[in-house]
Amino acid sequence: MSWSIHHVNLETRDVRATADFYATMLGMAQKDWVFPASRGYLPGDPDKLALMADGRDSHSGLHLIAPDREFAAKNGMDHNPSIGGHVAVQVPDLDAVVARLDAAGIAYSLTGEFAIPGMRHLYVEDPSGNLIEVNECLPETTAPAPVRHLALCQVRSGSEAEFAKVMAGLDALRNRLEMGPMRWGPDTSPEGLGRGYGYVFSIDFPTAAARDAYLEHPDHKALGARLVGLCEGGVEGLCVVDF
Ligand SMILES: [Fe+2]
Repeated sequence: MSWSIHHVNLETRDVRATADFYATMLGMAQKDWVFPASRGYLPGDPDKLALMADGRDSHSGLHLIAPDREFAAKNGMDHNPSIGGHVAVQVPDLDAVVARLDAAGIAYSLTGEFAIPGMRHLYVEDPSGNLIEVNECLPETTAPAPVRHLALCQVRSGSEAEFAKVMAGLDALRNRLEMGPMRWGPDTSPEGLGRGYGYVFSIDFPTAAARDAYLEHPDHKALGARLVGLCEGGVEGLCVVDF
């Protein structure tokens, strides 16, 4: 069975200071955590959760999380991965691991895709009491979202942090609206054809009606107004298309 270390998670008292330590001292890249549409109880606050990405996939690397005693209960788990740290091992066949644990009578917590897009997870203690997470990549869905909402943004220099807050606000709408996965980030195209649109975000909607409900939602309108205020020339610094 082939396996690899997917991430190491550290229980972290001061997430911001610790993330800055790894970024500054070790040169690690901080990336925004992208939540799956089937998100469980997870902190979205950068003071509670940080991803120091190593680039092998979207969430591999080092995870920093503030301890949360309610994390396990709120996710229906018997193990609490926010306390005491854990190592996450990626395997090709999680069901095979489940079968072996069942045969050995070892208790575990099995989740669906609740924390990392495209992965499901199992948490178990080894005989020495070390908590480990075991991950499996879910098969990629090939069905395209009926509506993908795509926005290109000419974010003014110095407004990047506020832009990130607006993106977090839009992502939080998924708790209240019929919204699929959201992605956002800086343009990384090597073609040099970005025409000043330095940031991009996309949201998948299962139906056009769901997209329309998002557009009409007062929280979306308020966040949209904030976004316009962060772009070069206001609305002139935005390009929005759906397909
Ligand atoms: Fe983890």
